[in-house]
Amino acid sequence: MHNKISPSIMCVDFFELDRYIKTFEHENIDLLHIDIMDGSFVQNYTLGTDFIKAIKHKTNIALDIHLMINKPENKLNWFDFGENDYVSVHYESTPHIHRALNMIKERGAKPMVALNPGTPISVIENLLDDIDAILVMTVNPGFAGQKLVKSTLKKIKSLREYLDREGHENIEIEVDGNVSFENAKLMMESGANIFVAGTSSVFSKESTLNKNIEKFKEILY
Ligand code: DX5
Ligand code: ZN
Repeated sequence: MHNKISPSIMCVDFFELDRYIKTFEHENIDLLHIDIMDGSFVQNYTLGTDFIKAIKHKTNIALDIHLMINKPENKLNWFDFGENDYVSVHYESTPHIHRALNMIKERGAKPMVALNPGTPISVIENLLDDIDAILVMTVNPGFAGQKLVKSTLKKIKSLREYLDREGHENIEIEVDGNVSFENAKLMMESGANIFVAGTSSVFSKESTLNKNIEKFKEILY
């Protein structure tokens, strides 16, 4: 499975969005991670349906939509996504996780279940046929700039082993939260293959966007 980079768009300076998108296209970035927060499932508010519509008009890069909203099944059809896009819903966000995942699949997109740091791997047992990937939160969702929850490294490793043992080698593992240059390497060695790049890597103020992307690629590709 090849490694994919998914820059987190909530970390972009919105007045410079055009320039960022052009750089991502030029650098052949795999995915764009879009955090949607409803102020209820998580405290914070971020982007919404209009933003996704706008970005779909701007670029052909596939989207990686991360829904941190309660009862996503009631709102999924408000979001513009389709083939090649990844859409994740949190295990705890609905009593109808199976229905939500299948609504994503019916639209031709790739369903993912997202697990908070405190959520055990075992909850995916009956969802393995309904997902293309699992989003392992490596910080508690809601805010950029947090520190890695260390126990999640072991969790990624156990998850990869579990998926392979069950014959689901094709299910991908995405990591989100404090995916710094150093942590990305450890996460990759543990078995992750989709990396959400935020303030601790691609958007780090210590260097330019291009140089950060090059550095990230050297580690992951
Ligand atoms: C969490 C967010 C963050 C962020 C990633 O819900 O998805 O993980 O965008 O950026 P950093 O690297 O700041 O954690
Ligand atoms: Zn996210």
